[in-house]
Amino acid sequence: MPGGGGRNRRSRPGGATSLPEGLDHYELLRELRPDPDLPTLWHHAVVQDDNYVPRLAVSSPPPFDPIRFEDLFGTPGPIEIEIGCGKGRFLSEYAALHPERPLLGIEWTRPIAWVAAQKLAKRPTLEHAKVLWGDAPYFLRDRMPSRSVAAFHIYFPDPWPKEKAKKRRVLQTSLLEQMRRLAVPGCRFHWGTDYAEYAQYAMELVGATDGFRLLVDKAEPTDGITTSFERKYLLEGRPIYRTVWEVEPLP
Ligand SMILES: C[S@@+](CC[C@H](N)C(=O)[O-])C[C@H]1O[C@@H](n2cnc3c(N)ncnc32)[C@H](O)[C@@H]1O
Repeated sequence: MPGGGGRNRRSRPGGATSLPEGLDHYELLRELRPDPDLPTLWHHAVVQDDNYVPRLAVSSPPPFDPIRFEDLFGTPGPIEIEIGCGKGRFLSEYAALHPERPLLGIEWTRPIAWVAAQKLAKRPTLEHAKVLWGDAPYFLRDRMPSRSVAAFHIYFPDPWPKEKAKKRRVLQTSLLEQMRRLAVPGCRFHWGTDYAEYAQYAMELVGATDGFRLLVDKAEPTDGITTSFERKYLLEGRPIYRTVWEVEPLP
């Protein structure tokens, strides 16, 4: 997974926490907390010591510590999740259309997450939507309770086109496994990219994964809402590849 504090021991933060015996890699310690200044923003951020050295988790994977949706949304789930929500154009417009659906946008670039959260904060009717600054696969794996998501949205993720970099793509088998764990009956996975090879990769990867059923090939923008990147690409005349899948919950 990207941003995880990988296997390179040279980059291990010296002395922050010793590597537990028997583990060949470590993960960084992440803490979930509300932003002190912006109520629409939550952090699932790497914890640093007083010298700004990232701290290590005590085990890998870290102990599972699921969130309470009541703390974030004031209501129980299920929720919907947008992974890589960028500056939150889709998130805010979709939230405005669906005031009954708790919605979480996850964005790992802090200033961008801040912009998205500001967008929500300006509209008091969007209290059911929040932004999480963090790395989505870790948040899903370590914090999300099973059977709690009604829809996943991933739009125009970074394509990482070079062969060596494809492992950095957000769409990986491990993410699909989490999506199945999290799905409630009827769960949808909305996907879109402008990058033909990524579209093909997604079709093959998702199509070969148990529990995913293609509902719509060549889908339209979800509820007619185009994302920021999509608008740019449409102006450039690029083709757009969107699909909708049904995600079957794990038995
Ligand atoms: C190309 S932008 C697309 C933004 C938006 N979905 C749109 O269509 O306008 C991809 C976004 O995904 C974010 N991102 C990439 N990997 C992520 C991860 N593992 N967790 C959360 N956000 C991620 C990036 O920071 C970036 O803002």
